[in-house]
This record gives sequence, C-alpha cells and structure tokens, in this order.
Amino acid sequence: MSERLIDMRSDTVTRPTAAMREAMLRAEVGDDVMGEDPTINALQERAAALFGKEAALFVASGTQANQISIKAYTQPGDEVIADALCHPVRSELGGAALISGVQVAMIPTERGVYSRETAEKFIRSDNWMQPKSALLWVENTHNAGGGTVFPLDALGGLRALSNERGIPLHIDGARIFNAVIASGIKPAEWGKRCDSISFCLSKGLGCPVGSLLMGSKNFIARARRLRQILGGGWRQAGILAAAGLHALDHHVERLAEDHANAKHFARLVAETRGLKLVYDETQTNLVFFDVAESGLAAEEVSQRLRQRGVAMAMRGGTTFRAVTHIDVTRADVERAAAALKEALA
Ligand SMILES: Cc1ncc(COP(=O)(O)O)c(C=O)c1O
Repeated sequence: MSERLIDMRSDTVTRPTAAMREAMLRAEVGDDVMGEDPTINALQERAAALFGKEAALFVASGTQANQISIKAYTQPGDEVIADALCHPVRSELGGAALISGVQVAMIPTERGVYSRETAEKFIRSDNWMQPKSALLWVENTHNAGGGTVFPLDALGGLRALSNERGIPLHIDGARIFNAVIASGIKPAEWGKRCDSISFCLSKGLGCPVGSLLMGSKNFIARARRLRQILGGGWRQAGILAAAGLHALDHHVERLAEDHANAKHFARLVAETRGLKLVYDETQTNLVFFDVAESGLAAEEVSQRLRQRGVAMAMRGGTTFRAVTHIDVTRADVERAAAALKEALA
C-alpha cells in the first residue's frame, strides 16, 4: 500500500501549492460586498479582459455561478435549453427548479455536444400554451461527456441562432481552460460566442475556492444582486482571489500535462482485461471506464483500489471517472493503472 493517496476522484481535490499560499499570504484585502477588495477587483478585471467581456464577478463555486446565471436570464415558468447531461441537470439538486422556477428542455447528445439544427428543434413556438425558451446552455468542457471540448464551429452555429432568436447563450466553463489548452483556442474566442461564461478556479487551476462569471455590465450587476440573495456576498475574500491570480499566471499552461497524463492513463486502461473505456477519445483530463466485464461490482473495485492507495469516483452502475490534475504525476497514473489491474486480478 502506498503512503500518499493517489486521489483521482476529481480535480477539485487539489491543494494549494506553497507558492500559491505565499501569494494568498501577501494579498491586500477589503470588504468585497462594498466592492473594496483590491485583489478581488483585480481578479475580476483580469477575468473579464481574458474573455473579452465588460465585467466579471467572483463567486463561491461553479454551482453558484450556474444558478445565478439561470436566475439572471429567466422568469419562473420559462424553459432553459440544455443537453441532458449538463451539470445543472445532473448535479445541482434541481436548483434550477427550486431557485428559478424553470424547466429544462433536455437535449439528448453524444458527449454533451449539440448543433444549431438540433437546438432549433427545441425552441418553443409563440403558441400561448408553450413556455418561453429563455436561455441556451452549453457546457465546455463537458464533465459527464468525458471532458469533451465543445467544437468552436458548433458553438458559432448556436451563437448565430441565439442572435437570430434573441435567446441568450451561456457557457458553463467550469473547465474552459482545459478546453483552451486542448484546442489552442483562446478564452476571448469562446467569450465572443456567448453572452456570458463562467470558469472554476477550484478545479484544474488548483485553487482552494472560487469561480468567475463574466458577461455584460448589466448581467454582472444583476448577478451581484443574486449572489447577495444567495448569501454569497463575501468580505475579505481577496485571500482567495490572490490564489486565482496566481493560478492564471502559473497553472493554465500546465494543464497540458494533465491531458497527457489522462491520455496515458486511458491507454493503460484500454490495455487492461476487464476494463472498457466509456469514450474512445480522451480530449482533456477526465477518463471514464467501465468494469462490467471484470464481473466485479464497482463498490468492490473501489475498495480494492483504496487498499492500494488509489481513489477514483464511482459514477453509478459499473462506471468510474478518473481525473488527472496538478497533484497527480505521470508515475501516479502508472501506479493507479497498475493498482486497477491488481484490483481486478
Ligand atoms: C461542468 C461543471 N459545472 C459546474 C460544476 C460545479 O462546480 P462546484 O463544485 O464548484 O460547485 C462542476 C463541478 O464538477 C462541473 O463539472
């Protein structure tokens, strides 16, 4: 059994590096509810500029960014058009219904990607019995879709549709920097093709807490009020924003390493008897695989992995998700793959 747990359950398990902690220690702070935290203000300005948007808001989490965005664009009774596997549908406790009183038209997709033509079929007519189609929702990269990068041309098609029909387009970019690194497409190019976009600091970027939401001045003013209602107005959180600024300087380019490690891990999984990759292609840092052919229950495999110092997330049925991140090295993914092989033996 190894001493250090190789934790591949999620990229949210990362711990701040010594250099990030140094940056946090030095942060100048103020009361952010009053708009007076200089480090938060600097982070928000930087995030807005990166994505080519007028303004940005620092919020507690990806879930908070999503729920604020849905609420900002909709009225109760409206409908959001999204893929059926998106995070708000799968993993936000029905928050869109609870907080915004909306329903979601769920598009069945391959890996979370859908086209303009498909979206068009889900837009309601003006018929008096139908809900208003109030928001188009894209997730990039797509979590349940195995870390898929939303193709830029498909997004361009949705942007055109959104403009023609006057339906705003939001991108849940929790892992948008993984998309940026995997595709070479700059943040501003993604920003150009939506009304608003978020990203998480606390995933691949390795920060302890926080997400950014970017959009027009009006949208962000509304988002700020909604953040306050949700109890998310924070005070001297510049300590957290300092981690974010540090991550934007030092932890973006390195995501390429996580992608290379994930691809390597996927190759090792594909070679292991009893395992099957759920998605043939690994684009970023998420690898989904199925243990059904081994004849073992996921629970059993998970326990055997833990005994060998490795943690991966069970995703229901016989499926697992393994995630590479800043605290997982090339040697770790090799050890994790070897532990999997042993666990199945
Ligand atoms: C695509 C996506 N959006 C939003 C979230 C929510 O982020 P948080 O855990 O910070 O609430 C996640 C978390 O995994 C995610 O994968």
